[in-house]
Amino acid sequence: MKLYSHAAITAVLSAAVLVATPNVLQAQEQHADDHQAMHDAKLPKHAVAVLASTSDSDVKGVLMLDQMEGFVRVHGKVIGLTPGEHGFHIHEFGDLTKADGTSAGGHYAPAGHDHGAPGKQSHAGDLGNITANDDGVATVDIKAEDLKLHLVLGRSIVVHGGKDDLKSQPSGAAGPRVGVGVIGVANTEAK
Ligand code: CU
Ligand code: ZN
Repeated sequence: MKLYSHAAITAVLSAAVLVATPNVLQAQEQHADDHQAMHDAKLPKHAVAVLASTSDSDVKGVLMLDQMEGFVRVHGKVIGLTPGEHGFHIHEFGDLTKADGTSAGGHYAPAGHDHGAPGKQSHAGDLGNITANDDGVATVDIKAEDLKLHLVLGRSIVVHGGKDDLKSQPSGAAGPRVGVGVIGVANTEAK
């Protein structure tokens, strides 16, 4: 067995480091570029929520969410409602395991404001009310200024049986949940 001197081993290791370092740096730069490109290109800009009725309702609906410059447009139609106003929110979880919709949790509120009217000083998920006509149909077209689409993917849209009074805590006293749907990435080629 041949013994190498400490100096010889150090020299060999240094040479190896000199050879390896540029490749490592290049690989790191490449990774950072790839990551940025992926980030820019792949953030979903269009989502959809298909509302299903909870246990005691016949509410159904389809809502589209589009990331625009500085706001999210929420638009579509909800049917099977009682005529009048209905609380309309984004809730924290996309968990519809409970038939009454309560597994969707409370209003999506990452900044911790109180419940209120739509805007920057209330829950981000506070979208106010939608209004159903005498046929129980609500046509929705809302500008949600306080939302980023990619942060609500996998959460849910909830329609309530009653009107959101825009002030009662923690959720506007809007009554039971009558329609719930998970916000998912839209297949924009399926049109
Ligand atoms: Cu709600
Ligand atoms: Zn709220």
